[in-house]
Amino acid sequence: MEKLVFVALICVILSESNACFTSNHAHFTRMRIGSRFYQECRCDEPGSEGVNLKWLDSHNQEIQPLRPGIESNVYSEWVDEDTYRLFISNLGRSISGDYKCVTNHNGQTYALTYNVEAYDRPYFINTNETQYVVSGKNVTIFCEARSETDPLIIWYKQDGLTKIKDDDKYETSPEGLIIKEVTNDDKGLYKCAASDLKTGEEIIRDILVEVISVPEITEIVASPDSNVVAGGILEIVCMATGSPHPEYVWRKIPKYPLSIRNASFPSQLSHWKQEANKITIYDVNENDAGAYECTASNVAGSSSGSVNIDVYFMPEIIKYDSVVAIEGSTVQIVCGAQGLPIPQISLNYLGEYNERGLGWDMKNVSEIEAEFYLTFFPVNRSHEGVYICNASNFLYTDQKEINLTVLYAPKFGKPFEHAWGWSGHNTNLSCDNESNPPANITWMYQGNDLSEEEQTEINNIMADKMHNNPLIIENISLYGTYQCVAHNEFGEDKKVIALRQGFIPGAINNVTITNLTSTSVTFSINGPEFVNGPKLKAYKAEYDEVENYNITDIHINRTWSIDRPFRLDRLRPSTVYYIKFAAINDVGDGPWSEVYDFATLEKTNFRSVPLEPVWEADVEEAAAFERKLKWKQEELVDSYNIRLCPMYNGIIEEEICKDKTIESAAEYELNELDSNTTYYLELVAHNSNGSSTPAHIMFTVPAKEESLLSAGALIGISIVIVFLCLVLLDVLLLLWRRQGIIAHCCHKKKKNKRERQERPS
Ligand SMILES: *[C@@H]1O[C@H](CO)[C@@H](O)[C@H](O)[C@H]1NC(C)=O
Ligand SMILES: *[C@@H]1O[C@H](CO)[C@@H](O)[C@H](O)[C@H]1NC(C)=O
Ligand SMILES: *[C@@H]1O[C@H](CO)[C@@H](O)[C@H](O)[C@H]1NC(C)=O
Ligand SMILES: *[C@@H]1O[C@H](CO)[C@@H](O)[C@H](O)[C@H]1NC(C)=O
Ligand SMILES: *[C@@H]1O[C@H](CO)[C@@H](O)[C@H](O)[C@H]1NC(C)=O
Ligand SMILES: *[C@@H]1O[C@H](CO)[C@@H](O)[C@H](O)[C@H]1NC(C)=O
Ligand SMILES: *[C@@H]1O[C@H](CO)[C@@H](O)[C@H](O)[C@H]1NC(C)=O
Ligand SMILES: *[C@@H]1O[C@H](CO)[C@@H](O)[C@H](O)[C@H]1NC(C)=O
Ligand SMILES: *[C@@H]1O[C@H](CO)[C@@H](O)[C@H](O)[C@H]1NC(C)=O
Ligand SMILES: *[C@@H]1O[C@H](CO)[C@@H](O)[C@H](O)[C@H]1NC(C)=O
Ligand SMILES: *[C@@H]1O[C@H](CO)[C@@H](O)[C@H](O)[C@H]1NC(C)=O
Ligand SMILES: *[C@@H]1O[C@H](CO)[C@@H](O)[C@H](O)[C@H]1NC(C)=O
Repeated sequence: MEKLVFVALICVILSESNACFTSNHAHFTRMRIGSRFYQECRCDEPGSEGVNLKWLDSHNQEIQPLRPGIESNVYSEWVDEDTYRLFISNLGRSISGDYKCVTNHNGQTYALTYNVEAYDRPYFINTNETQYVVSGKNVTIFCEARSETDPLIIWYKQDGLTKIKDDDKYETSPEGLIIKEVTNDDKGLYKCAASDLKTGEEIIRDILVEVISVPEITEIVASPDSNVVAGGILEIVCMATGSPHPEYVWRKIPKYPLSIRNASFPSQLSHWKQEANKITIYDVNENDAGAYECTASNVAGSSSGSVNIDVYFMPEIIKYDSVVAIEGSTVQIVCGAQGLPIPQISLNYLGEYNERGLGWDMKNVSEIEAEFYLTFFPVNRSHEGVYICNASNFLYTDQKEINLTVLYAPKFGKPFEHAWGWSGHNTNLSCDNESNPPANITWMYQGNDLSEEEQTEINNIMADKMHNNPLIIENISLYGTYQCVAHNEFGEDKKVIALRQGFIPGAINNVTITNLTSTSVTFSINGPEFVNGPKLKAYKAEYDEVENYNITDIHINRTWSIDRPFRLDRLRPSTVYYIKFAAINDVGDGPWSEVYDFATLEKTNFRSVPLEPVWEADVEEAAAFERKLKWKQEELVDSYNIRLCPMYNGIIEEEICKDKTIESAAEYELNELDSNTTYYLELVAHNSNGSSTPAHIMFTVPAKEESLLSAGALIGISIVIVFLCLVLLDVLLLLWRRQGIIAHCCHKKKKNKRERQERPS
């Protein structure tokens, strides 16, 4: 038998055996517990290879034929070659279920299903005690029963007494009670009674009907708004109807596929909080933008809705690369920034955009990113510099610097230059040039009429200075032609410098007076016409009054730079002067010009009154202690008036003031001062035009000090005076009468002298 099945399987695989049947059927059979059940399964078109049939039990296990030594209540057996039979010898509730006869054909399985139910009294199937019905629909409250005959089902309304009849609202069906257009009022307890018509047995089940409704989202509210500024708090509330109360599930569809500025998405979880139908996002950031989908669901079903959240965030410049370009090429500066609202970008360029060779453009790269382009076509050295990029929206302005470096070949302003040298002076030859990167400099020298030997020597001297800038020429005999080559990777340029011997300027021979007053003179000096050397830098002059000019060699001298008016001041009016000039350059001073003369004008008649006199320092102290008044004497003042007023109790006594007029002077002795007295003093300067305003001081003369001489000293002085009087008296006697002490002494001396003279003779 096993062999046969095995062969049959082989045949199925190898030759696609003929089918026994090619349809599915289901049959129901109800039988009392303990009954015997058998069912035959026929193969209508057995193939040559055998019959392809199997019986499966309710657990889809193959039912085997009865074999010796194995007892089974359920088994299979072949009735003949085409008919395979299922046999259940004693039907019980535990083995109730679907039994299938299956066959395979072309890989398809066909089954004939026999539902075998065992019962002993009526019972319910498919009858849940709580059933949910969806509001607004036509629904069935399931209640099915089994018994030997089809049981009679009777439905009772919620009170348990009112029988339900078929009408517009209700309709009974084999599966249960159909309620049309369910409303909330249809919920409650229903009774389903099933009775076996043959035996009269009845069973009753209470069915609780719950009316449910599919959730419906009425509104999703974002507060404060669906456009929120980064950093704030956002609340999204999902409002839905539905019974029972729905459960909420949130889902976020990010707006930007990649996280901005690497704020990673998982980190968001930490600043989210969901409570039922509300989510709260703390410290909102730009990555929180997107659609928030809310799904409300209950047993009846679910529905979804979503709200779009935009997060405004500060601009950040993310593209600001510095640019290095070769002059003449086309180059672009790019400034890119992210932000929402999309930032406005500007580039601070000190030129004008509409200038030829300069263009700008702006583009929105995405919803949150904009770029600004500044294009140079072509770029030149004047464009080099630091460009400031600003990106701003209403939240903030970000700023970044973009450097543009332009590389170019060296270029000299002038291809040819003169330079001067003279002995005792080092000449600097400059090879300054415009270039980027800085150029490498090489000097060459070509002497005028040099012997080969001299040239070689010079070359040796130059060798270690060949790349210097400036080139310092110390040996001044090296006049000649110098060539400087400046070189960088973008090209080179040459400059020739002719170094010649420089001389002092020639004599000045063209001087005119452009302004003359009583005390000043201004000259206009022209030339000398030709200077074989460095350019003039100054003029000098020596001058003196005619009276002094031939007496001494030392005269007043002045030097002026050539770009200032040559003006002499503080000259004496109505005076004739001699003056000579010389021009000066870096080599030295030129020779003196011939001597010019000029006469200052007559003294100007000053129409103004003198200025208020100015005191010398510490004038009050000098007046009080030294009794001297000192001030700064002014020119063109004829006289001064001094008014001295003693003060008593701080009041000036006008009646006793003393006036004194003196000639122009700088000081005055105060002879008539009382001690222990305060004075008020005024000084007024006069000239022919009038008086100055008075300068005044106040000072206090201290009280007289007591005599320092002691009584002893007084006696001593008295003795001396008496003695002197006596001597005087004696002298008078001598002169008049040749008498007295002196006379007496003199007489004696004379006598002695005479005696000594007489003796040797
Ligand atoms: C009875 O309840 C079960 C579980 O709650 C459910 O799977 C089944 O579909 C219900 N049957 C009917 C007929 O409502
Ligand atoms: C319910 O059934 C009635 C008639 O049987 C039909 O008119 C009505 O459209 C149905 N309602 C729904 C929601 O299917
Ligand atoms: C930002 O993210 C990109 C891509 O994930 C990565 O290549 C880059 O290194 C990150 N930058 C920073 C500063 O983390
Ligand atoms: C970029 O987008 C902003 C806002 O959407 C808009 O106002 C602006 O005109 C756009 N600019 C360009 C160049 O498209
Ligand atoms: C550089 O370009 C500007 C215009 O963009 C022009 O005015 C200027 O003359 C140019 N300078 C040179 C050295 O070419
Ligand atoms: C740009 O140039 C400025 C000054 O010229 C310099 O200080 C700065 O370092 C440069 N920046 C870059 C990125 O090269
Ligand atoms: C400059 O050029 C000279 C000659 O070509 C070379 O010897 C020297 O190394 C260069 N110097 C630099 C700084 O490039
Ligand atoms: C002096 O110089 C002035 C201005 O350069 C010129 O007009 C005038 O002819 C010159 N005089 C003489 C004598 O050279
Ligand atoms: C001449 O010099 C005087 C005094 O410095 C000045 O006031 C006057 O304006 C000058 N005159 C001319 C013509 O420059
Ligand atoms: C000064 O000397 C020169 C010659 O040296 C002469 O011409 C001139 O008259 C003299 N001047 C006076 C004021 O003596
Ligand atoms: C110029 O005058 C000053 C005095 O005023 C004197 O010391 C100096 O030596 C003079 N210079 C010349 C070059 O005569
Ligand atoms: C100085 O004068 C005041 C009053 O004016 C007087 O009181 C005082 O004693 C005097 N002092 C001397 C030392 O005479």
